[in-house]
Amino acid sequence: MNPSIQDPVVKKKVEDLLSRMSLDQKIGQMTQSERMECTPEDVKNYHLGSVLSGGGSAPGENLTADWVDMSDAYWGASMEQDTNHLAIPLIYGVDAIHGNNNIRGATVFPHNIGLGATNDPGLLERIAQVTAKEILATGVEWTFAPTLAVARDNHWGRVYESYSEDPAIVSSYSGGFVRGLQGDLGTDSVVGCVKHWVGDGGTSNGIDQGETTLSRAELERLHISPYYPALEAGVLTVMVSFNSWNGNKCHGHKVLVTDVLKDKMGFDGYVISDWDGIDYLTEDYYQAVGMGVNAGVDMFMVPENWKTFISHLSSHVRLGTVSMDRIDDAVRRILSVKFAYGLFDKPRPAERSWSNHQSFGSDEHRQVAREAVQKSLVLLKNQGNLLPLNKGSRILVAGKNADNLGHQCGGFTVAWQGTSGNEFIEGGTSIWEGIRGLSPTAVLSRDASAAMTNPQDYDVAVVVIGERPYAEGMGDIRSGDDVIIEAGSQIKGALKVLEPYGHTLELADLHPEDLGTITAIAEQGIPTVVVLVSGRTVIINRELEEATAFVAAWLPGSEGQGVADVLFGDTDFHGKLSFTWPKQTRPTINKGDENYDPLFPYGFGLSYS
Ligand code: BGC
Repeated sequence: MNPSIQDPVVKKKVEDLLSRMSLDQKIGQMTQSERMECTPEDVKNYHLGSVLSGGGSAPGENLTADWVDMSDAYWGASMEQDTNHLAIPLIYGVDAIHGNNNIRGATVFPHNIGLGATNDPGLLERIAQVTAKEILATGVEWTFAPTLAVARDNHWGRVYESYSEDPAIVSSYSGGFVRGLQGDLGTDSVVGCVKHWVGDGGTSNGIDQGETTLSRAELERLHISPYYPALEAGVLTVMVSFNSWNGNKCHGHKVLVTDVLKDKMGFDGYVISDWDGIDYLTEDYYQAVGMGVNAGVDMFMVPENWKTFISHLSSHVRLGTVSMDRIDDAVRRILSVKFAYGLFDKPRPAERSWSNHQSFGSDEHRQVAREAVQKSLVLLKNQGNLLPLNKGSRILVAGKNADNLGHQCGGFTVAWQGTSGNEFIEGGTSIWEGIRGLSPTAVLSRDASAAMTNPQDYDVAVVVIGERPYAEGMGDIRSGDDVIIEAGSQIKGALKVLEPYGHTLELADLHPEDLGTITAIAEQGIPTVVVLVSGRTVIINRELEEATAFVAAWLPGSEGQGVADVLFGDTDFHGKLSFTWPKQTRPTINKGDENYDPLFPYGFGLSYS
């Protein structure tokens, strides 16, 4: 329950406005389009309640000024009042899931998997506060974050969006992160959105959008529990998940959306669908619209189909297959959030004090990200105390991820699937740049195999290896044809098959070039520190064996400096595994499982002291 929503003054404003709205205006409030698919005129003519940017969708040159101009234009249209249209401020949504990651020059924080290793709820709250300011700098007021997925299978392409396989860590972060974003709903705050409701991290074989088969009690214990602290902190919106629970898609699940979330848990904000999420309920889109609304979804992310959605929903109401009460409930919730957040009292985006603020991407913000990187690193091996490195040593830096900001930021950074190279991530430092900053004599070998190096020239090598960026189902690891067909596990509706990242979790198979680089250097007798950039606990048995020291850096984001700080011992290792590190691809193991025989157990992490 959010006290601002329960405020009698807010309630009165909501009822007053609701009583003056036409059906078209109400349905418009329930509709969210994508910026590429609607103009400001559409917002006014169809009374759209919200517009979003999908991953990588950005106006103009993707600078804060472009975003403020765009938000201002949509906002302006939503606030033009005339005989056909009521002035109701639009709410603009983005995936600011590790900083305001879509925008050029933003501070990019480590992805959630790294933050899970920090075990530091206070840090998470500060990260959320910085993220809120970088969102406000763009004239935007809503982020689809935090993700509360409890990822139970490291084959899933979204593991990095999850803090932990253990609901305890996710629960210890969720309330603070929401508080950090939403604050007191004053000028420094944005609207948060916990996602994806519910069971997204529990799908069989870790298939994105797949099927989570669990008893109600297990669903509650593993996947629902982290939502309680977020609701207590007053989170204003919840996003429904693509996955099914015991054969039924969450987008059409009245028990989960209405009975559990709204009635039992008392959620009083609004529920948004995921991107085209209702499309998979059934092949008949008209039916799908009715099923989603009647399940209790309040606002619909219908990026392209929004006009059809509007006309179908109008027909449902006319025919009585969706009741006017349900429409009023949905719109009441949407207006409640808009009033509670003070959206009606805000100046237009161009005139807001945080818009284009100089703190966007500032050193102060980057310092918080650097601290997060430092605290997220997990030291897995340190033979002969090779680490910390000596700044005066002759250091060779190699590996494909050494000087690659795109790779160290991962998916959902500037582009939906992320980027490669240093071109698109402005500000920040690659891991190589961080090392060079502390040890100016260090040498970068861009030759992947590093075979050309002269071993006598070096005391030690740092080899930065790992995955390339990916997002959602395109990051899945799917082994076996059956599993590929199960893609998206469309129990009902159209089958959507995305090409997965690979067919094995074995790093030596996925990225043989990495083992090649490590071996080429190690064979020359140079002690090797391996730094792994990855969105999950891939199988590293062979790389680990070759390495003298081994560090899991996750997807550290824009501040590669934080990695260097720890490698040189300016700060100690602090991170502990929030995910079990397996020895083999299958069976998937999580903390507490029978026959738990990991490479490194949950909670593992060495340090200097
Ligand atoms: C993802 C969501 C995201 C949405 C909007 C979907 O594909 O599942 O997590 O918030 O897109 O970009």
